[in-house]
Amino acid sequence: MASSFAVCGLHLRGRGSLVKCLQKVETSLHRSIGTNVVAAQTEATRKDEGDEKEKDGHKSLYALQAERQEQAERSVLISCHSRTNEKKFLKYLSRHGEIKKHFFYESYGTYAVVEFANQESVASLLEGAAIPSISHECTVPFKSRLLSLSNLGSGDSPNQKSGLQCQPQTTVPINELIQRLSREESIDQQITFLTEAYQLTEENSRLRFLVCSLLKDIAAAYFPECIIKPFGSSVNGFGKLGCDLDMFLDLDGISGRNVKMPKSGLSLEYQMKRANSERSVTQSILSVIGECVDQFGPGCVGVQKILNARCPLVRFAHQPSGFQCDLTANNRVAMKSTELLYLYGELDPRVRCLVFTVRCWARAHGVTSSIPGAWITNFSLTVMVLFFLQRRSPPIIPTLDQLRDLAGPADKSVIEGNDCTFVSDLSKIQLSSNTETLERLLCEFFEFYATFTFSRRSINIRKGKEQNKPEVAPLHIQNPFETSLNVSKNVNATQLDRFVALCQESAWLLQQSETNTPKGHREGNTPTPWGLATILLPLHVAGVKISKKRRREPASDRIKGLLESLKNKNQQKVS
Ligand code: GTP
Ligand code: MG
Repeated sequence: MASSFAVCGLHLRGRGSLVKCLQKVETSLHRSIGTNVVAAQTEATRKDEGDEKEKDGHKSLYALQAERQEQAERSVLISCHSRTNEKKFLKYLSRHGEIKKHFFYESYGTYAVVEFANQESVASLLEGAAIPSISHECTVPFKSRLLSLSNLGSGDSPNQKSGLQCQPQTTVPINELIQRLSREESIDQQITFLTEAYQLTEENSRLRFLVCSLLKDIAAAYFPECIIKPFGSSVNGFGKLGCDLDMFLDLDGISGRNVKMPKSGLSLEYQMKRANSERSVTQSILSVIGECVDQFGPGCVGVQKILNARCPLVRFAHQPSGFQCDLTANNRVAMKSTELLYLYGELDPRVRCLVFTVRCWARAHGVTSSIPGAWITNFSLTVMVLFFLQRRSPPIIPTLDQLRDLAGPADKSVIEGNDCTFVSDLSKIQLSSNTETLERLLCEFFEFYATFTFSRRSINIRKGKEQNKPEVAPLHIQNPFETSLNVSKNVNATQLDRFVALCQESAWLLQQSETNTPKGHREGNTPTPWGLATILLPLHVAGVKISKKRRREPASDRIKGLLESLKNKNQQKVS
């Protein structure tokens, strides 16, 4: 197995034998991270970006983040009216300089994201903006790049129909998704469709970086050189429209931080307040910035300071974007996990497809939840998918140890004593020769976890092997970097049991010819759910009842029983 992902001096990506249909997926998947498609984008810019993509191949997450951050700095967010005249709006704004891109979206009102070609244009626009004149209320005089367009009366008729094309910021509801999936011709196509429908769009991704940049302006009151970076599913390639925005306050850029004292001669250093621990520094910083966000941050509501958590954070809702935000500081390991997940997603298009599908399936059945509790988290679920892909024969993705062995000197990273080193140059990683279809992989994923010995074994993506469980928690998934920790420590036996039962039933459903073949449909008719659509339905609708008894029956008996129940159900429908 180790040899499958050996070091290779040649640029190997793009020369593998992956099935053709996956190339389509790969192209579309890059939508959300900055190459194709954008509303209101000029042809010329579109071509430039295309050429750039050709040249660069796969960009590192680091390069992507830098590019997005810079774009965000040149952007403003404007609350406008749904009947705003787009042409006049753009003409008005372009008095401050060339507009590179813009788009509209809806979230508690209509908003426009406007990216100028130069940062001076933003300064000029802010210079010309007025303080609101509200007679009966007082306002905090904090100026930001979140603005409101007023004086619409001059050109926009109140009767004028909205002509603005708004970019969607949420996913299609599950029932609609099930119908759309049922119109596809194969399970592979269904999985591709789901991935395309759920992934973050180019616009949503831009908006996430813009919100980070707006928050940075608040934090900059104390730390002018700070950066606020998104991490987690906003940037790891597995984000679904509507997912939360995890942010990291990075203070490492503060100049002088890495300046070494000379061994002799005069020198100066800053006087700084000392604290008991790094944790208490993080808590103080987040407490103060949380207060600022609460008191001064336009559009930031419901601010909660959760400073005693293992990873202290400030949680709030950013109304203009509709994002639920978590701001952390000093959270470098999570940043590394994000990079790792991004890298795995870039290695093979099947990784993202499978993760999206499993995440969607888990959410549809309440295996995961947006409320913290004993549920399996999306992060744990993603690690489970990665582990499964490492266990295929031949493996689809390398183990973390193999990625560490491919690392160059610049990749070396040790955070709080944890080795977080792994290769960043994708061209050093050999593509897998595994050509299994998405349909097969999905079915095998359910089979794999339906029969996994959770009681004794631990999931370990560093080694790519099951290991003996070091603790009694029902589900043990080793934290890839802080290896003594279990990322699924919160999961209780009931939730694990539900997951296993659902895996069994979903595997069974996908194997049945009643459910795994496309049902003929005519345009306009509601199509009969089949394939992936079936496993997203509540199981009783799909004709399956989870019972402990059945789970202990041999597979053949179980299948016989379930076939029987499906047959009865169909007969009932006919009669
Ligand atoms: P969704 O927000 O559910 O879409 O997914 P997410 O991947 O963003 O998960 P979440 O917001 O819970 O966490 C954000 C990031 O923090 C993850 O992507 C991981 O990088 C990291 N993270 C979350 N939980 C853990 C954990 O238990 N251990 C470690 N090491 N990292 C975690
Ligand atoms: Mg998240």
